[in-house]
Formats: sequence, C-alpha cells, structure tokens
Amino acid sequence: MLLHFDDEHPYAVRLAAAAGLSAARIEQHRFPDGELKLRLPARLPARVVVLRSLHQPNEKLVGLLLAARAARELGARELTLVAPYLAYMRQDAAFATGEAVSQRIVGGWLAQLFDGVVTIDPHLHRISSLREAIPVEVAQALSAAPLLGAALRGSCTWMLGPDAESAPWVHAAAAAAGCPSAVCSKQRSSDLDVEVTLPEADLTGHHVVVVDDIASTGRTLAAVAGQVLAAGARRVDVAVTHALLVGDAEATMRSAGVELFISTDTVPHASNRVSTVALVAKALQRLP
Ligand code: R5P
Repeated sequence: MLLHFDDEHPYAVRLAAAAGLSAARIEQHRFPDGELKLRLPARLPARVVVLRSLHQPNEKLVGLLLAARAARELGARELTLVAPYLAYMRQDAAFATGEAVSQRIVGGWLAQLFDGVVTIDPHLHRISSLREAIPVEVAQALSAAPLLGAALRGSCTWMLGPDAESAPWVHAAAAAAGCPSAVCSKQRSSDLDVEVTLPEADLTGHHVVVVDDIASTGRTLAAVAGQVLAAGARRVDVAVTHALLVGDAEATMRSAGVELFISTDTVPHASNRVSTVALVAKALQRLP
C-alpha cells in the first residue's frame, strides 16, 4: 500500500499505478493553533510505502513523524519512505562552531521512523552514500539527471554545473544529451550573494544548459547564466531536479538571461517537464 497526503495525490496515483500498489489517503486536519491530526486507513498491510516530498520541510517532518508512528500501530511492519525531494541534506557539516549538522540529525531521525528510504538526487556532497546520512537497511538515491539530459537531447551544445558538487549530475545529464560538460567554481558569501567562475571552455555561439540539483533562491543559476552570456554564448537554459524556487527566484534567473527553465516533478511547479514516477516505481519494485 502507498500512503499519501492530499497535496501529493496526482503523483501518488501515478506512482501506485506504475508500481502495482494500492493508494490510500492520509487525512489531515489542522487545528486552529496549528497542530495536526492525521487519520490513516484503519488497518494496514505489513509493507507500507509513505510518499512525502520534503519541500517546505518543517511542518511536513512533523506530519511524517505522526504518520510513521501511527502506521506501525495500525499494522505496518516494514515502512519505506519515498521522498522525491529530501530536505536538510545541504547542512552536512558544522561550518562554524556550534552549528547543528542537520543532515546527520534529520537523517538519523528518519532512520528511526523508516526501514527504507528512496529519494532522488539528494545533496550528498561530503559523503558517498545516502546510507551514511540515513542509516537504514535500504537507502536508495536515484538520479533524474539522465532524464533531464534526455529531455534536452539535440537542443544544447554545452552543459555546465555551477560548482564541483554538481559534477555527477551535469556529467550524467550531458552524457544523455550528447554534449560536452564542465563545472564552474562557486563562492557563496550569503543566502543571496553568489559568485561563479567559468571553467576553461570557449562558449562563443554555444547553446548552454546549466544543470544543478536544486534551484532555491535562483542566485546560483543566475550567476552562472550571466557569466555564460558574457562569455559569448548565444543562449542559456537551466535544468534542475528540484524546483524549490523561493521568492523572486524565477524573475532573478530570467533577468540574468535564462530562456528556458525546466525541472522534474519532485517538487510541483509549472516548469516540471520530466516525470520521475517510472524511476521511483522501478526502485520500489526492486525493493527486497
Ligand atoms: C548547493 O550546493 C546546491 O547544489 C545548489 O546549487 C543551491 O542549493 C542553489 O541554491 P540557490 O538557488 O539559493 O542559489
């Protein structure tokens, strides 16, 4: 059985159909003071999958805690979390004394709730596997980069990633798109201040696509786009897995010269062009 919250109904229905699961709703009521009450189906099978994409994560993590604990009480013995977008993975070290290492804390907490986790393009910069962040039996990190690359095949002549961390995604996307790729170097001095330096490559007249895992404020991608056009490229587009797009992110990228912005459906947005449903369904079917 696949359990889902109302706001993820369309993805849940498609995923359940593709993975051969039955879909069931988790009803959610918000009390006037903001607390949540959940209602799950009265009896659950032994194996249950909970779908929750973790953009806008703070409240969703509380919902997930309630859902996972209730599911166990209602009969689930093996619980798998499908989080197409997995939050809190970027704070993977204490960059200043006293900072909480969110990746380790949230990852450890999810491991207490679930037996398995399936996610897409998690931000695993300083570690090599998802299992190091979420120590569960089965931790699967899928990648949508080849799907993004395939969607752009024939329409671009270079792909760039904004920083060293983006290398796996940009190289995989470029292999699928059939074009060369390289990464820039990036310096972020605050949430909204980002500078990038382009790699050694002649971009004159090229149609460049900038590939990254996440677009949040859009500052990273806007900085790369501005440099790419200044270097003589004829067009710059952007492809990301997770379109978080907070505040004026889209407008910032457009003002920097980005023409086309595409994303996957891990976070619902008008730019979603690539479905991750079949990718996740296959992963669920391969679960032991
Ligand atoms: C960080 O290292 C990520 O890969 C993204 O580059 C970053 O999260 C994008 O953030 P923003 O859109 O706020 O610049």
